[in-house]
Amino acid sequence: MQFLKTGRSDRSAVFGGMSDVVVHSMQYLSENDLTAIARYLKSLPAVDPKDTPHQYDKQVATALWKGDDSQRGASVYIDNCAACHRTDGHGYTRVFPALAANPVLQTADATSLINIVLRGGTLPATHAAPSSFTMPAFAWRLSDQEVADVVSFIRGSWGNQGAPVTARAVKDLRENDMHTTSGDDLGQVTQKH
Ligand code: HEC
Repeated sequence: MQFLKTGRSDRSAVFGGMSDVVVHSMQYLSENDLTAIARYLKSLPAVDPKDTPHQYDKQVATALWKGDDSQRGASVYIDNCAACHRTDGHGYTRVFPALAANPVLQTADATSLINIVLRGGTLPATHAAPSSFTMPAFAWRLSDQEVADVVSFIRGSWGNQGAPVTARAVKDLRENDMHTTSGDDLGQVTQKH
């Protein structure tokens, strides 16, 4: 309910085409309708019945805290992402989304993640949560390999179970729709979720 009404929850923040849905539609629904949608979503079976609840693994946070950035993607993460999403992956609740235990990080298709790193995103303001926060775009400063490394790093850290991504996948996305960050592009991103 919090997510649909405010665009943010303890686990995630809305982005891409779904931002428009929250801003123009969901935030205006009654508490009853929001509860009904949330109940329905929670009643759906797991995509993968073998999925187990997220277990936080503090190994990565401990290594980063000690200054050990030898793991692939770790130094890119420290230099570009940790100021907001923090070395423990917990972020700042309802401001900078947590990456640890965030379901978006564990999807089979990493397209949306590569896109948000290349293009950035803005968590929209809603009536119930009027603050808006922006993640910068990194396409101009990170190579395909660096984006692949950092996305693979966040998908595999803090107990997350997402598979690594390749530099080739980043290259394809960068070349295919680099022309604009219009609603159309972002719409495609969300449909892939
Ligand atoms: C200035 C703070 C800031 C920095 C630096 C930053 N982010 Fe973000 N990040 C955000 C905000 C704010 C959002 C929510 C964006 C939205 O809602 O469109 C976000 C969203 C995300 C998401 C989607 C998660 C979700 O639930 O919405 C991912 C993945 C992500 N960031 C990864 C990264 C990576 C990787 C880096 C470094 C390359 C990075 N971020 C750097 C602030 C930041």
